[in-house]
Amino acid sequence: ERTRVAIIGGGPAGLLLALILHRAGIDSVVLERGSRDDVLSRMGADMLEKATTDILRTAGVGGRLDREGLVHDGFDIAWRGEVLHIPLRDLTGKTVTIYGETELTHDLYDALDEAGVPIIHGAEDVRPQDIATDAPFVTFHTVDGEHSLECDYVAGCDGFHGVCRQTIPADLLRTFERVYPFGWLGILTRTPPIQDELIYAHHARGFALCSLRSPQLSRYCLQCDAGDDVANWPDERFFDELEARLPVAVAAHLKRGPSIEKSIAPLRSFVAEPMGHGRLFLAGDAAHIVPPAGAKGLNLAVSDVHYLSRALIAHYRDKDDQLLKTYSETALARVWKAERFSWWFTSMIHMFGEEGTFSQRIQEAEFDYLAGSQAAQTALAENYVGLPY
Ligand code: APR
Repeated sequence: ERTRVAIIGGGPAGLLLALILHRAGIDSVVLERGSRDDVLSRMGADMLEKATTDILRTAGVGGRLDREGLVHDGFDIAWRGEVLHIPLRDLTGKTVTIYGETELTHDLYDALDEAGVPIIHGAEDVRPQDIATDAPFVTFHTVDGEHSLECDYVAGCDGFHGVCRQTIPADLLRTFERVYPFGWLGILTRTPPIQDELIYAHHARGFALCSLRSPQLSRYCLQCDAGDDVANWPDERFFDELEARLPVAVAAHLKRGPSIEKSIAPLRSFVAEPMGHGRLFLAGDAAHIVPPAGAKGLNLAVSDVHYLSRALIAHYRDKDDQLLKTYSETALARVWKAERFSWWFTSMIHMFGEEGTFSQRIQEAEFDYLAGSQAAQTALAENYVGLPY
């Protein structure tokens, strides 16, 4: 078995890469450990930057996104009862689009099925081999037995817990990490959202987020203890706590409903450098993680895929390897800026249990500055809608 690009991991990064390469006439095979239902049952993110939607449209998956995606011109930050509106469009000329990651994954599967791009589900024990040589290959097994897939390049799109990052020799790989002392308890309910736009609420009881997937699907998140358990959070307790953290006028619009999903996610910032070795290139969560505030994870996966697909296309079409050589550096420059923003936003809106300390006064000054300065709001907005490529 042979292909040009062996793509390990069929999350949003791997699927989009396969589709863009196919459109450019470059064949690939996607090796995914889980079943299609496993991939489609993940929660994922819900906010797409302008550049992300442009890339998805160019790849041919903009149809349903344009029909069903909700374009948002701004969002709110609540701070101990006050609400500050951040008018993204006025400040930057750009908007963001609300569209669930699950929907996007559906669209990618549909497009890849139609194009006939092979996606092998249930690929176990996937191992990239000989990546530092000119003849890499990937071994794995499925219910049909052992396989070896020869390729020109391996794309490591296998998420944070994948195997590809570990394939880079330990003495060449540097990792950078910050783990935050709390988690996000999130639920999804089949109810109309509390308001049209997102609201990020800083409160003495902890941070709260009101987001949405569609006009009938709400997503709510609460800052919780890192070691907390969803079993401690029946829906009524969740909604009582959410109401307590929101300004009264906003809470009045809350429509409670049974949760259809409930989970706790840890918050982490993580970057691995370099994003490749030999003929292996990492993209998406395989190389970096951001905390969820500001929804940069999926958007970063898309920007990596944009840079990587462009570099592979230059290799096959123009016999030019320059972009492959600089892929890691190019991708990391954008990654680090999104890491900085996600860290900053996370640091500003959560409670760090530092009441009465220097850090807490700085946090308050941060919000006061933001509330009183259009320059500060513009800096927030340009990061939120996505920095230029
Ligand atoms: N072999 C094959 N597949 C693997 C392996 C492995 N050893 N390890 C992980 N995978 C698969 C996972 O099952 C998953 O489907 O790789 C995929 C990685 O997908 P994501 O974790 O979604 O990562 P990515 O595609 O980079 O997407 C990044 O989307 O899911 C969100 O929160 C994520 O916002 C982030 C963005």
